[in-house]
Amino acid sequence: MNRMNILAIETSCDETACAIVKNGTEILSNVVNSQIDIHKIYGGVVPEIAARSHIEAIMPVVEKAILDSKLTWEKIDAIAVTHTPGLLGSLLVGTLTARTLAILHNKPLYAIHHLKSHIYANWLENPKTDAPQFPLLALVISGGHTQIIKMNHHNDFHIIGSTRDDAVGEVFDKVAKILGLPYPGGPSITQAALNGDPTRYQLPIPQVDNLDFSFSGLKTAVLRRIQKELNLPISTPSFELKDKLTEQQVNDFAASFQSTVSTIFVKKLSKALVENPSTQSLILAGGVSANQNLKENIQNTFNKQVKVYVPNPKFSTDNAAMVASAAYFSIQSGQKPTDPYSLDISPRSVIF
Ligand code: KG4
Ligand code: ZN
Repeated sequence: MNRMNILAIETSCDETACAIVKNGTEILSNVVNSQIDIHKIYGGVVPEIAARSHIEAIMPVVEKAILDSKLTWEKIDAIAVTHTPGLLGSLLVGTLTARTLAILHNKPLYAIHHLKSHIYANWLENPKTDAPQFPLLALVISGGHTQIIKMNHHNDFHIIGSTRDDAVGEVFDKVAKILGLPYPGGPSITQAALNGDPTRYQLPIPQVDNLDFSFSGLKTAVLRRIQKELNLPISTPSFELKDKLTEQQVNDFAASFQSTVSTIFVKKLSKALVENPSTQSLILAGGVSANQNLKENIQNTFNKQVKVYVPNPKFSTDNAAMVASAAYFSIQSGQKPTDPYSLDISPRSVIF
């Protein structure tokens, strides 16, 4: 079927989301209920609380998505849901809801990989003529992943670079915590960096072969540089540092860290483009792609070489519209529906 209205559900982490998207690009509704305020007080996502909050929010979120779209269930052609990777309890709430709705309304059900969805955020609101062109390179940067993925056509994914340790979003969150900035760290570091000097603190660029990344060393380097700045021994616990830093030091550390991350990605993407000279588009995906400094650096460096795509910020972080888009293009490429009576989840990433 070429023309399709897909209702998608996304609950892999701390956003309860449902959206209805026509033909993979046209958004009819997009509802995201964020749990950030609930988790903020703990400084990070608490899995059990996330699952319980999804249970409370999921049906009102689905109902609002249907209401906003002005469609009735008869006009929905398929249901899509994130089944991997993510938090176990969170994934269960979304998949059980999608399975039940698929059975109840007799709709085909499609299981979608979360990273694939982040990539397809770049097709949302992009008519066919403006859509990314193949072969393309996707830099997927989220709270759980850091990868460079090559796609020769739709639904074709080759991981050509990966982090060997921490994901970049995780490091944004950890550095923010050391600096005493609120969760989630990405947006708070972005904000603090606006008033910071990116050249004040020199941080090392990890030397990793090929197209892989390593971020755990950068996290430790920030910690050591803060201890040095405060003339404290390296045995000083990280949670004791934030109260000793001035606001200007915090802003300068945020800006220096952010700019080092940009340098790392620009270097690796340059290498990836040299190794893949036929690349037509370069696309950013995942929560960290909402970072203004990173977007600008990547766009300014590469836009003469390839067309650079960055999702609209509301589609960079977790949402269900991107799941519907990924499902649409997967179905066009031959993905078959899954059995709603037996669809399982996989908290750890499976191959997509
Ligand atoms: O893609 P996402 O919403 O969820 C996962 O699939 O992990 O990414 C969440 C991550 C968090 O680590 C958050 O700190 C980071 O994305 N993030 C940002 C920004 N907004 C969110 N990182 C840097 N700059 C931002 N503006
Ligand atoms: Zn995500």
